[in-house]
Amino acid sequence: MTITRSPDMPAFGLYGLPPADLAEIPAGALQFSPLMPGSLTLEAQAEGSLAGMAVLAPPGTLERRYVLALALKALKPEAALVALAPKDKGGSRLRRELEDLGCAVGETARRHHRICEVARPANLDGLATALAEGAPRLLPEIGLQSQPGVFSWDRIDPGSALLVAHLPNLAGRGADLGCGIGFLSRAILASPAVQSLALVDIDRRALDATRQNVADARVTRIWADLRQPPGDLKALDFVVMNPPFHDGGTEDKALGQAFVRRAADLLKPRGTCWLVANRHLPYEAVLAPLFKTVTMRVETGAYKVYEAQK
Ligand SMILES: C[S@@+](CC[C@H](N)C(=O)[O-])C[C@H]1O[C@@H](n2cnc3c(N)ncnc32)[C@H](O)[C@@H]1O
Repeated sequence: MTITRSPDMPAFGLYGLPPADLAEIPAGALQFSPLMPGSLTLEAQAEGSLAGMAVLAPPGTLERRYVLALALKALKPEAALVALAPKDKGGSRLRRELEDLGCAVGETARRHHRICEVARPANLDGLATALAEGAPRLLPEIGLQSQPGVFSWDRIDPGSALLVAHLPNLAGRGADLGCGIGFLSRAILASPAVQSLALVDIDRRALDATRQNVADARVTRIWADLRQPPGDLKALDFVVMNPPFHDGGTEDKALGQAFVRRAADLLKPRGTCWLVANRHLPYEAVLAPLFKTVTMRVETGAYKVYEAQK
C-alpha cells in the first residue's frame, strides 16, 4: 500500500492490521506496530497529536494494556480510539481494560472479535500503571533488558539455553536469525574469532533491547521479516538460530522452515548453521536437501540441536 498524505491532513494512527471489514482505516494512516519493519514508534509519537487511532490489540495482557495506554496518550483530546481483538486473544478483556484506563466504552461483537470504541479521556492519570508495567526494563532475574510482548520476555527459553550449552567457538562473519533480546548473540560473541554478527528480528522492541544486552562493536542490527532476504547479508561463515514457530499466536511450521531456507541462502559453501528446535517440529526434511551434512548434536525429551554444513 502506498501512503500518500498531504501535510495538513490530520494524522490517523494504526497498530497492526485489523480485518478490513471490522475497522475503518483512512488512507495514509501511520503504522506503529513494532512487528512491521519500518513502522513508526508509538512511544515517540507526540502526546495529543493523532486525530484517531485503530489498534488490533496484541494478545499479551501487559503488552496490550501498554499499547492501549500509549494510543490514548498519543490521541488529541476526545479523539476516538477503536481497539479490537479476537475474543479468545484478549478481546473479551478489552472493555474492562479500557475502563480501567479511564474510558467510557462502547462495545460490539462481530466475526469472533470484540470491538471497543472510546474517546480519549480528559484525564490521563489512569494510564500510569499500564505504561509502567509494559515498559522496557532490566530484569535482574535473567540479567537482561527486555519488555513484555517480546519472545519469552521474562525467562530464558530452555531450547536457547540448550543450544548455548552446546555451541562451539564460532569464527568469522555470522548472523543470529530471530535474535530476540540477544541471548544467543551474547554467547556467540564470547568467541573472539567472531568478526561480525548480524542480529536480525522482526520485532523492533527485541532489537532495541539488544542495544543494552549486546553492546559490541562487531554487531549490526537488522529489523526485517526473514521471509524476505535481509538487506545485503550474504556469504556468511555461520548462522545460529532458534527459529520461531508461531505467527500471531498460531503455530506456523512454515515460518521455521522459511528460516532454514533463509539460513541456507545466507551461508557460503561449507558455512555452518546451528539450530535448536522443539522435537516435534519437522525441520529435517527442509535441512536435508539444502545442506551437505546435517548432524543432530543433542537430543533431549523436548529439543533437538542440529549442526548443518552447507
Ligand atoms: C524462538 S524466538 C528466539 C529468540 C532468541 N534467539 C532466543 O533464543 O531467545 C524466535 C524469534 O524470531 C522472531 N521472528 C518471528 N518471526 C520472524 C520473521 N518473520 N522474521 C524475523 N524474525 C522473526 C521473533 O520475534 C523471535 O524473537
